[in-house]
Amino acid sequence: MNARTIRSIHARRVWDSRGRPTVEAEVTLHDGAVGMAMVPAGASRGAREALELRDGSTRFGGKDVQQAVANVNGEIARALVGAAADDQAALDERLISLDATPAKTRLGANATLAVSMAAAHAAAHSLRVPLYEYLGGSGTVLLPMPQIQIFGGGAHASRRVDVQDFMVVCPGATSFSQALEWTAEVYRSAGELMRARGSIYGVADEGGWWPDFTTNEQALAMLVQAIERAGLSTASQVAIALDMGASEFGRAGRYRLGLESRELDADGLIEMLVRWMDKYPIVSIEDPLAEDDVEAFAQFTRAVGQRLQIVGDDLLVSHAPLVQQAAALGAANTVLLKPNQRGTLTETLQAWHAAQAAGYAGIVSARSGETEDVTIVHLAIGWRTGQLKVGSFARSERMAKWNEALRIEERLGARARYAGMGAFGRNPMTR
Ligand code: PGA
Ligand code: ZN
Repeated sequence: MNARTIRSIHARRVWDSRGRPTVEAEVTLHDGAVGMAMVPAGASRGAREALELRDGSTRFGGKDVQQAVANVNGEIARALVGAAADDQAALDERLISLDATPAKTRLGANATLAVSMAAAHAAAHSLRVPLYEYLGGSGTVLLPMPQIQIFGGGAHASRRVDVQDFMVVCPGATSFSQALEWTAEVYRSAGELMRARGSIYGVADEGGWWPDFTTNEQALAMLVQAIERAGLSTASQVAIALDMGASEFGRAGRYRLGLESRELDADGLIEMLVRWMDKYPIVSIEDPLAEDDVEAFAQFTRAVGQRLQIVGDDLLVSHAPLVQQAAALGAANTVLLKPNQRGTLTETLQAWHAAQAAGYAGIVSARSGETEDVTIVHLAIGWRTGQLKVGSFARSERMAKWNEALRIEERLGARARYAGMGAFGRNPMTR
């Protein structure tokens, strides 16, 4: 028995930021090292994501995870005790073959991912290195540019606005900590502006302000105002990123903007987005079109892909074959990486490798239902994706991630390099 073979695996039910059950796994190695991880949960999920196993029936609205917990404590523990925790690829391969379904529908991606991540933590602890270093080696370390939500909408705010995330990015900052300082000021000034209008309804699922607007475009105008009020420049420092979450309001080529009571076809939606791009400092748009509209996705990418980061979330669901298909069609130029869309770290990393091979940029992302787990920060740094999306600048399940990255940046000192503009792989600020 090697010191880093798995001695025991235990799962328990814990609770996420929406007060819903989720899975935590604890992996203990022969040398006593322990790793723990909790899985997040999405609300605007892609149709092709791996399955999040829920118990159904009436308890906790059908959202309980006792079966997923039992799968870890039973079948998965039996199969993985004695395996090497420091061979992530082999360990994940065992999880994949144990489940033996294309979308983890037997054991649940929440069960497999909890173990996959906890094993990585345990191996890193045993080697006495931070997880990001275990995942990505040493040398100069790339700190991600954060994408941070200021206004929340879509499925995260009862569809109060159709656009899911109105976010800011700070390509002009010189460090990760400065990017957070700038974002804090924008978030605060947006809150002040909303309060002055008497239109604050609290915060949405990810902590962004829950807005009261009559058009989607009003939120864009308000965001620009907030950036300027914070004393920051939209020409060189701070820019806007959107997640349209278009699969939530579009199907079969028709897009229904509920807030504005109008319906568009793909051409109309593309026209609206290009108009927004011409008018506002937008540098990144995620899921501009629905997951079933890959042709329009490609059309949009052909039209503006040279000056805009176009992110596939529901379109690509962190799945390498889908990234390859999209790349062949020229749809999107950036992949969003959410480990629970696949259910193992290795498969998520494969999606990132496929994206890199296609010349795509990458963003590691949280889900709208989160916990205090900070694994994704280490993935973004260790895998050198250059970008990290965690939701807002409020609520501790979000702040835990930003604070973890701050700690890492401070400890690295001169070895830390902030991704900034380079994160895009092109320069969307020169417009
Ligand atoms: P979700 O939303 O976690 O609810 O799926 C996040 C996103 O769409 O990026
Ligand atoms: Zn998304």
